[in-house]
Amino acid sequence: MKNIVILISGRGSNMQAIVEANLPHRIAAVISNRADAGGLEYAVARGIPTAVVSHREHPTREAFDTVLAAEIDRHRPDLVVLAGFMRILTPGFVEHFAGRLINIHPSLLPSYTGLHTHQRAIEDGVKLHGCTVHFVTADLDHGPIIAQGAVPVLCDDTPDTLAARILKIEHRIYPQAVGWLCSGQVSLNASGKVVSKGAETSDGFVISPVLE
Ligand code: GRF
Repeated sequence: MKNIVILISGRGSNMQAIVEANLPHRIAAVISNRADAGGLEYAVARGIPTAVVSHREHPTREAFDTVLAAEIDRHRPDLVVLAGFMRILTPGFVEHFAGRLINIHPSLLPSYTGLHTHQRAIEDGVKLHGCTVHFVTADLDHGPIIAQGAVPVLCDDTPDTLAARILKIEHRIYPQAVGWLCSGQVSLNASGKVVSKGAETSDGFVISPVLE
């Protein structure tokens, strides 16, 4: 059984999806940088240990990351899962958890790194958009890709409707990716590439829009 530590800053719906996937692993702790993160209440109700490490109480990113890393390490994590954790992490922190730190980003990386991904995708008129689970490296939103899910962008989409469609896929691929990494079915090899054992090949197409 592996130990998983989940970091959140807000509502924590991805954290919830991972908890509810009932993976054969231990959710050792849910840690937030904000005491008012909605997801903390859910974790407490599920009997999961929680902690708050407030970035406001530390003068520098380095100081915050040092305390945060110490709190995470107390739980001996095999995997550290960023689930809507809204802080940029220092290279030292990322190095400390190298190969054990993953994130979900609301776009098909490497397109649309950074913020306001849904708005930008709509403005560009792309017909497919989605989300990406990836290892975290010092280069923001650029780490090795573990899994991606795509959805169509519809003509009348707003950033909110598109976000809602993508969130459903996030809730599906994030628990899957966590499970694969914990079981060793998916791993990072020595050259920094993500490899999967026994992945099914499919020649299916994803086309958007769907027209008769
Ligand atoms: C998700 O859209 C995720 O892709 C992004 O932040 C959002 C977090 O939502 N990184 P939640 O807190 O998991 O509900």
